[in-house]
This record gives sequence, structure tokens and C-alpha cells, in this order.
Amino acid sequence: MTIDIAALFDTHESERYSLHTRRLNEQMVRVLRTIGYDVAFRRGHGQYLYDRNEARYLDLLSGFGVFALGRNHPAIRAALKSVLDADLPNLVQMDVSTLAGILAERLLALVPHLDKVFFANSGAEAVEAAIKFARAATGRAGIVYCSHAFHGLTYGALSLNGDETFRQGFEPLLPDCIRIPFNDLVALEQALSLRRVAAFIVEPIQGKGVILPDEGYLKGAEHLCRRYDTLFIADEIQTGIGRTGRFLAGEHWGIEPDMVLLAKALSGGHVPVGAVLMRKRIYDKVFNRMDRAVVHGSTFAKNDLAMAAGIATLEVLKAERIPENAARTGERLVRELSALWANYELLKDVRGKGLMIGVEFGAPSSLKLKASWNMLETASKGLFCQLITIPLFKEHKILTQVAGHGSHTVKLLPPLIINDEDCGWIVRAFDDVIADSHRAGAVWTLGKTLVGHALRPGA
Ligand SMILES: Cc1ncc(COP(=O)(O)O)c(C=O)c1O
Repeated sequence: MTIDIAALFDTHESERYSLHTRRLNEQMVRVLRTIGYDVAFRRGHGQYLYDRNEARYLDLLSGFGVFALGRNHPAIRAALKSVLDADLPNLVQMDVSTLAGILAERLLALVPHLDKVFFANSGAEAVEAAIKFARAATGRAGIVYCSHAFHGLTYGALSLNGDETFRQGFEPLLPDCIRIPFNDLVALEQALSLRRVAAFIVEPIQGKGVILPDEGYLKGAEHLCRRYDTLFIADEIQTGIGRTGRFLAGEHWGIEPDMVLLAKALSGGHVPVGAVLMRKRIYDKVFNRMDRAVVHGSTFAKNDLAMAAGIATLEVLKAERIPENAARTGERLVRELSALWANYELLKDVRGKGLMIGVEFGAPSSLKLKASWNMLETASKGLFCQLITIPLFKEHKILTQVAGHGSHTVKLLPPLIINDEDCGWIVRAFDDVIADSHRAGAVWTLGKTLVGHALRPGA
């Protein structure tokens, strides 16, 4: 029997919105229709998406960061096909996986201060594992996290989420989770000084809002964690695997966390995976006796396809000098987008590292724009950014996102393989769309329509 998935896709492609309205998330379909993103993508290649009319879009979202190597990279596909063709034993469970051993060895070669790896199926699952390992290793309950943090949406991870919108309706969450402001070492010391905290978890660059650490913050946090015997966990699920121009973002600031969390791009964009890299002494506190050999785990973790995707991703990263490209193109984008700042009163900041970039907007000074800005802000904080992202998509075929609920920052998280032509495309498009937003014309009319729909910025 041959199941032709491509043919299935083709015959049902035109029903996708009605299928989702009927059987899945109807609200998502409403959002797509309201903002005009219902173009029905048909295929993806590298940094580009193509709709049913073969129009090409530049993807600055990269599936929330999974497509670091672009969509459908030939080396990843070949590696996955070779797994399927090899009749491997896969998930025997009462055995240990060869491919997991290889991937663990190769990951740790890139993060040499750590010794062990625990594999999971997603970012959130890696976070859940980190919480359990931290508590077991220290005998303490507390987990400190930052405001604006995003570590995933399962219960443990959600308990470390710094945004009320995600938490509302799901309480009560995990006890003993303590929120402190990001970039605040005094607050961190205060939280740790009672010596009840198992771990401090932090994104080296916060994904929500693209918030960079102050110079000395991460190193200072590491010192405080050591002083109070608290584990220091770097959530590099979004920032890792070359995104910021280094394998790990933490390398920019010389930190050596006790645990490093990876997921997203490690998948090659094909097979979900998560990984917790950690010190042996932490690992051994959980897996400390034979009768506890399976005390934590997940059925599909370490499956051959995920491990092969991870191995292939690391190979491509090195062979194609992907972090170097992220550093170079990211620097160019920040430089050229920052240069627009002088021309536009609504543009407040452009910041980032490698290809994790935030373009921030803020209240205008001129009376002419103030009234419209206030109208949008009153209707829904952060709505202004939709006046940037929607025309970027409709008129310039660039897919972007707003960097969080109520955020005034548009986020660029493209595949790490973008080239100079793409950079030119991005800068020209931003220039054009920002210029329009200062003209109190069509864009502001769109704003009124959005206010009518009471539409809120996305994830
Ligand atoms: C920093 C960070 N941690 C954890 C997660 C959760 O990963 P997943 O969606 O694979 O559960 C995300 C996802 O966006 C993330 O950005």
C-alpha cells in the first residue's frame, strides 16, 4: 500500500480553513482572516514560503525558531531518509540508543564544561525535566524566574512564565516559583539568600520583547547562584544552536551554566526534540540507583529520527558556517534598521544579537500622530505593531511577529541562512512600512478596522 501524502495535501488544501474551523482552533482561522494572512502556503524551501499562486514570501518567523537551517534542508532530509531505509531497531526501550549516544557526545563537545544529556521531545519537556533535576539535586523546592520569561506552556514551564495572559485561567500553578525582574541582580540575591531556591532559570536573551541582558548581568547571576548553592539554568531553546552568532548565546557573556536547555532548531525543523545538558553531579542525583534507571523519561525521547535530525543539524551548522552567517547578516540588519531611526519618530530602538532582532516602536512626539497612537493604545496595548506586521506581509511578502502580548516590538527570527539580498528586502520593506505609518493614511485606517475587531497581538 502506498499512501500519497502529497496528493492528500493537494486535494484537501482548499479545505484547510473549514477543516480547522470545524475540528481544530476556530479562533486561529478568524485571526488569519482578519489580518489577511490566509494565503494558504503550499511549499517551503530554505528561508522562503510559497503560496498557492507561487508568490514567494520571506519567513522571519522560522516556525518560532525551528527552521534555523531553513525549510527542507537537503542534508537533514537525506539523514532522515537514511534512518527510514536502514531498518534500525529504534525505541527498543530495554536497550540504549546508539544515535542518542552519538548526539550527546557531539552536543557536549560543543559545551565542554557539561558532562551529561537528558533528551526530551520538546522545549517545554526539557524545562519540566530541568525543574525535576534541580529539585532532586538540591533538595530544595524554589525556582526563580524572570518577568517576561517564556519557557513553554506545560504546567511546570507555565509556572515560570512571566506573562499573566498565558497563566490566566490555568491556576493554581506549581508552588514555590518566584518571579523577579530581568536584569536585576539585587532582586536575584534577595530571592536566593534564604537558601531555599533550587535553580534560577533565565533566557540569555528574552524572546518575548527581545530583551538583552545588561553587561555583567548573566555573569553576576552565575556568581550569585554559586554563592547560594543554587543551580544556574540557561534556557537556550530559542537562543541556542547558532541563533545569536555563537553556538550558545551564553558564550557572548562567558557563562558556564549548570544546565543548558536546547530544543527548536536542534530538530532540523523536522522532528521535535529537546535536550538538557548538565553537570554529572546533577544527573547522578536523579539516576542514582538501578531501581531508578527509568525514574524520569518519555516514551519517544531519543527516537532515531529525532537523534538523526540533531546529528545532521550539528553537521550542517559547522559545514555551512551557519552561526557566522547569523552574526554577519544580523549585524548588517541591526546597523541598517537602526539607521532608519533618525527619520521616524515612532521608531524607538533596534536591538539584537545575530538573527534575533527586535524593532521597537513607541509614542510619537508630534500632535498629528499622537491622537491615532492613543486611540490604538487605548483599544489594545501594542496594537500599533500590527500596523507594521500586516503591511509587511501583504505588501512586501515578509512574515514577522509581534514580540509578545502588549508588546511594541516587532521581532525578526529568520532562518540563519538568509543572504544579502534578503537583508536588502527586509530593510526596504521596513523603511516603506514605517514611512506609511507616519502618514496618518491607509495604515491608520487599518488600525481602526483592527480596533473594531478587538484584535490583540499574537504570540
Ligand atoms: C526560551 C523558550 N523556552 C521554552 C520554549 C518552549 O518550547 P516548546 O514550544 O518546544 O515547548 C520556548 C518556545 O517558544 C522558548 O522560546
